[in-house]
Amino acid sequence: MSESTIGIIMNGATGRMGYRQHLVRSILAIREQGGVLLEGGTRVQVEPILVGRNEAKLKELADRHGIENYTTDLDAALADDRWQIYADFLVTKARVAAIRKAIAAGKAIYTEKPTAESFEEALELARLAQAAGVKNGVVHDKLYLPGLQKLKRLIDSGFFGRILSVRGEFGYWVFEGDWQSAQRPSWNYRSEDGGGIIVDMFPHWNYVLENLFGRVESVYARAATHIPTRVDENGAEYTATADDAAYAVFELEGGIVAQLNSSWTVRVNRDELVEFQVDGTHGSAVVGLFGCKIQPRNGTPKPTWNPDLADAHNYAGDWLEVPDNDVIENGFKTQWEEFIRHVAEDAPNSFDFLAGARGVQLAEQGLASSESGRRIDLPVVSL
Ligand SMILES: NC(=O)c1ccc[n+]([C@@H]2O[C@H](COP(=O)([O-])OP(=O)(O)OC[C@H]3O[C@@H](n4cnc5c(N)ncnc54)[C@H](O)[C@@H]3O)[C@@H](O)[C@H]2O)c1
Repeated sequence: MSESTIGIIMNGATGRMGYRQHLVRSILAIREQGGVLLEGGTRVQVEPILVGRNEAKLKELADRHGIENYTTDLDAALADDRWQIYADFLVTKARVAAIRKAIAAGKAIYTEKPTAESFEEALELARLAQAAGVKNGVVHDKLYLPGLQKLKRLIDSGFFGRILSVRGEFGYWVFEGDWQSAQRPSWNYRSEDGGGIIVDMFPHWNYVLENLFGRVESVYARAATHIPTRVDENGAEYTATADDAAYAVFELEGGIVAQLNSSWTVRVNRDELVEFQVDGTHGSAVVGLFGCKIQPRNGTPKPTWNPDLADAHNYAGDWLEVPDNDVIENGFKTQWEEFIRHVAEDAPNSFDFLAGARGVQLAEQGLASSESGRRIDLPVVSL
């Protein structure tokens, strides 16, 4: 039985992430299971209020899922004590203004990444939240993926020996919108609307790298806009002003080199839409969203280079699949449960606005690197 309820303002619940991952897969799933179990054995239930700009859409969603409250008036929701958490899934451009209001209203805040369009604003949000004493959290969903959880287990067990390098491939073909409709919103391809693959993906890469391998100490990136013209949701042609691919090298604490390609202009020839290969002195691993295969040093083949002879060795066959062993739940939901514990009983949370600001810094410096053609050192960020 639930003993208390936390009210959550879900701003942008009609959007792709807001609806699918945060409302349906997280908050409604948590409500369905009877809330979140706290340390002391009590439960806290969740109750959402949907906020957006289109009343008819909000009503349709609320009716579909048996949600009592929805409104187009964010200020009224923020002024209402029934709602303790403000959650933000808006387009990135609209985020800072809304979060500022939520800080002023004294709400705990949970948000999608990136927390802001500029590092200056992202850091300011972290400082404002700290000064106001409001709890804050930022989505770190990729860390909760089954593949990355298995990778964490391998790292913690010492499987790799000394980790040397990480190479990652993220991406798939996003249709141009003319002969087949695009599978991502068009704002992602307009920098004036907060789009761009660096702004989108580098915040993810920052928390993945710093939580698994070490702080990102420098970045070199080359951004590209390979497809200059796309067609939007209404069939209108527009100029793609944002980068749709980025080729980057990150130097990490401890001398690890990470090289990550991010692209919406690549056709997939790998097992999953994202894949990281980690090479260490004692073993290597290739992980995706779900899968994880390893090759220990004792199982490493000894290839010799001979361009005159076709190589009959099956290199893919040298890898061992790591079993699941655990049931791993949807990562957005798990992180929501952790944030609710953080709000309800002060459980630890290091995925805060400052972590979000580090992600925005990496994106900003990635773009600056691409612009200048230089590698850029990243200072340690503090409040
Ligand atoms: N964690 C992840 O893996 C992940 C993946 C994709 C997107 N995102 C992030 O989630 C956020 C939303 O992305 P999405 O793909 O769901 O976009 P979307 O376009 O599907 O949804 C955006 C939402 O913002 C609202 N909105 C748009 N313009 C607005 C404005 N000017 N004022 C107020 N509201 C406005 C829309 O009504 C909609 O509800 C972005 O910040 C994006 O970076 C995160």
